[in-house]
This record gives sequence, C-alpha cells and structure tokens, in this order.
Amino acid sequence: MNTGLEDVVAAQTILSDVDGANGRLIVRGVSLDDLVATSSYEDLLALLFAGFFPLPADLPAQLGAARVCIFAHVASADEALIALPPVDAMRALLARTEDGDDLTSALNLVAAPAVFIPAMLRLKAGKPAVAPDPARGHAADILAMLTGTAPTSQQAAALDRYLVTVADHGLNASTFAARVVASTKAGLTSSVLAALSALKGPLHGGAPGPVLDMLDAAGSPEQAPAWIEAELARGERLMGFGHRIYRVRDPRADALKAAVRLLAGAGAIDPARLALAEALEGTALAQLKAKKPDRPLDTNVEFYTALLLEALGFPREAFTGVFAMGRVGGWLAHAREQAETGRLIRPLSVYVGPKPREAA
Ligand code: CMC
Repeated sequence: MNTGLEDVVAAQTILSDVDGANGRLIVRGVSLDDLVATSSYEDLLALLFAGFFPLPADLPAQLGAARVCIFAHVASADEALIALPPVDAMRALLARTEDGDDLTSALNLVAAPAVFIPAMLRLKAGKPAVAPDPARGHAADILAMLTGTAPTSQQAAALDRYLVTVADHGLNASTFAARVVASTKAGLTSSVLAALSALKGPLHGGAPGPVLDMLDAAGSPEQAPAWIEAELARGERLMGFGHRIYRVRDPRADALKAAVRLLAGAGAIDPARLALAEALEGTALAQLKAKKPDRPLDTNVEFYTALLLEALGFPREAFTGVFAMGRVGGWLAHAREQAETGRLIRPLSVYVGPKPREAA
C-alpha cells in the first residue's frame, strides 16, 4: 500500500509541473530558469492567479495596500502570542483574518506572512514593528520591515529570487492540504492555514533551519567528512538532501546557489560559511551515493535556502515562515483551481482494527 500516496495522481493542474526524472520545474508553461531570470514575485503572482482571480493592472500597488491592511492586525498580538515560535504566531494571527474567496482576500493572505514574520521577530526582540511601505516591491519591503532600513538592491533581488523559486511546486504536502480544504468549499484562509500547518514539519518546509544546525555541528570543511559519516552511521538524515520526486538535482537548489554566489560577490555572505557549505555538500553527496547506491539522493531546495536566508538576516526559527511568504501564492492558485474544477477529496482507508464482538 502506498501510504505516502507515491505515484497516486490526486489532481489535474495547469499550475506547475515537477519533472523528477530530469530535474525540471515548469510554472504555467515557463521554466524555472526563465522565471528567475525575468520575473519578480509580483509577476509570478499574476502568472499563477491568471484565470483564478480578476487581475488588476496595478497588482504590485494592490499587494502593497494589502500589506498595509494586514499590518493593522499586528497591534492585536499579545505577549503570549509574541512568545510563540514565529511561524505559530503568524498562524494564530492569520486565523483572525476573514475567510473570503476573492482577490482582496487572496492578496491579504499573500501579505500576511510577509508582514507577520518580520513584525513577530522584531516584537520578540523587544523592538517596535516596522510598518510596510506600499510603494516598495514586495521583497524589498519584507527586508525593510525586518531590519528597519532599506535593503540593498542585491539583497532585495536575492529575496525576490527566493520567493519566485519556491512559489509553486506541484502537489507537495502543503499544497495538497490546501486543495483538500478547498475541495470542501471552505474559504482561502482555511486553505492557507491547513497548508501552513503541513509546511511546518522538518520533512517539508522545516528543513532549512536544521541545515544551519548541521553546518554548525560539522564545524569546518576538514571535519565535515567524519561528522557526516557519523550521522549516517547513526541512521540520521542529512537535511537539505533527498526528495520524494526528484531523482536528480533539485533545479531550485541551483537557482538559489546562483543567488547565494551573487550575494557572496557583493560581500553579503561570510566566505568561510560558503566554503563550509560547499565542502559539506560535496562530502554529503559522495557519502550518500556510497551508502545508498540504489536511491539517488541529491541536494534539494532547502540547502541553499538556509545560506541565503541567513545572509539576508532572517534567524533560523523564522525560515519556515519565509518559505510561506513565497509558497502562499501557489497555495492560493491551487485552492481556487481545486474549488473551481475539482471534486470533494475523500479517499478510502482500509480498516485493520479489531472486529466488534459477536452478539452472544
Ligand atoms: N539523508 C540520508 N538518507 C536519506 C535522506 C537524507 N536526506 N533522504 C532519504 N534517505 C534515505 C532514507 O533513510 C531511506 O533509506 P532506507 O531505504 O535505507 O530506509 C531512503 O533514502 C528512502 O527514503 P524515503 O523516506 O523513502 O524517501 P522519501 O521520498 O519519503 O523522502 C524526504 C523524501 C525529503 C522526506 C527525505 O529525503 C528527507 O527526509 N530529507 C531530509 C529532509 C529535507 O531535506 N526535507 C526538505 C525536502 S525538499 C522541500 C520540499 O520540496 O518540500
């Protein structure tokens, strides 16, 4: 029985195609390589939303206005909420937003992680939240809300590339969760809450924080081989490697590695950190190949995500929330597609529990 639903087709979509054998990702007919070269996150939202929401000509301005609208909810965060891990605080705030179906609801939901994560991080650190500037690009405004200062163009471009890279990826666990909820005709907030809850786990969107823990534990390029060997001998998984669908390198890893190298070129990444990451990646791939010759295990999106987000100033406990800033666009488009074209998702289970006692 495929208890992980491997090889089960559960939806038909026009949104994205993950070609695991060849390591290719296509979003609405455009390859990831072209997308990261030509599209901002706002462009990508327009691409994902086309046909599912009526699209205005000034989508970036409307998204800026949504950030301002969502920021009003930050004032309702009390001490107990601020003390939660950032992704849980964000989920709690998100749950207070209206459960609509229209473009306004969708843009508010895109704005929510972008506004709530920087605000929760700052409030937790005892600093005031920084209000959004609707005139900025989405990625640049996220960084400004995080740090309180305008980002460099390289920093804004790096975050923008990250958001585009992770925006949609077939029927991954969180997107499937969004579609299951949308299939019941619940609203968009309900779908996004379900997706966010699925994203949290370390086997999905929770991996990049542990990637940094792994770099810290490995210590140096010289110590990395012995450290990895010991981890694998203990049966541990190496975070940032392996994928359910890709049998070759995850194309998103290369898109983000290029962004990391650009930041390094601009002096925004510690060269020793990058050298350690590259050494650990090379060693991990060699050891995984030797240990599991029948199971191709390559670098996935989370490995370079970790370096990129660290260099942009996000603390590791916020990484899953930053993943949500990008993936929320995909969740919303999938939720609309499911609600419009799909049926109620209701699979079967096989009962293997005890039988009722026969009547005496
Ligand atoms: N390190 C070491 N061994 C691994 C790894 C890894 N990262 N990934 C898989 N394996 C081994 C696994 O132990 C198993 O070995 P055995 O057959 O001896 O028990 C074999 O490979 C097959 O593993 P699986 O669990 O059947 O593979 P899966 O397709 O269910 O797992 C995965 C996919 C991503 C959950 C897994 O590769 C993993 O746990 N990776 C580390 C966590 C990680 O990086 N997660 C982010 C995923 S990418 C983000 C996204 O797109 O959502």
